[in-house]
Amino acid sequence: MTYEKILGRLKDKLSEKRYIHSMGVEYTAAALAMVWDVDVEKARLAGILHDCAKGLSGKDSLEKAKKHNIPISKYEKRNPELLHAKLGAYYAKAKYDIDDEEILAAIACHTTGKPGMNTLEEIIFVADYIEPNRKPLPEIEEIRKEAFTDLHFCVLHILKNTIAYLKKDGAEMDEMTEKTYAYYLSH
Ligand SMILES: [Fe+2]
Ligand SMILES: [Fe+2]
Repeated sequence: MTYEKILGRLKDKLSEKRYIHSMGVEYTAAALAMVWDVDVEKARLAGILHDCAKGLSGKDSLEKAKKHNIPISKYEKRNPELLHAKLGAYYAKAKYDIDDEEILAAIACHTTGKPGMNTLEEIIFVADYIEPNRKPLPEIEEIRKEAFTDLHFCVLHILKNTIAYLKKDGAEMDEMTEKTYAYYLSH
C-alpha cells in the first residue's frame, strides 16, 4: 500500500484530532530514528499507524479483539480503549499491508511499553508522549530533550510521570506499565 493510500484510509478512520496527533508521532519518530540509528521509514510507518484502531468504541474494541483472538487482560476488559494498541497491530497488518514484525510490535506496545523494548519500540512509546500536538504535560521540556539525548532515561521518566499521574487520580493501572517501570528502573 502506498503512503498516500495509508494516509487516505487513516483520515477516514480517525477523528481530525487523532489524525493530527498521528502525523505528529510520525515526524517525531522519524527525527528520533535519525538520532538513534533506526530505519527512518519503519519509524514513520509505526508512528503514523500506531493509533489506527483508536476510532473504535470500547464495545467494538472488545468484540474485535475476541473475534481476532487477541488476549484481553482483566484491566483491558474494564478499560477496552487500551486494546487499541494490540488491535492497531492487527489492523496495520490486515488493513494496511504492514508485514514488518518490528513495526507491528512497536504499535502493539505503544500504550504501556514493555520490559526490554528495542529502540524502535522505545521511539514510538516516546514519540506518542512528546509529539508537539499533544497538550503539554508536566516536565515536558526536559522529557523532550531526554528523548534526543538519553532515550532509556526518557522512557523511565515518562513511565514515572504516567504512574504518578494515575496514582494521583486514583485511576487503575495496567500491570504492564508497572512491570515496564520496574524493568527500566533496574536497567
Ligand atoms: Fe495510542
Ligand atoms: Fe497515540
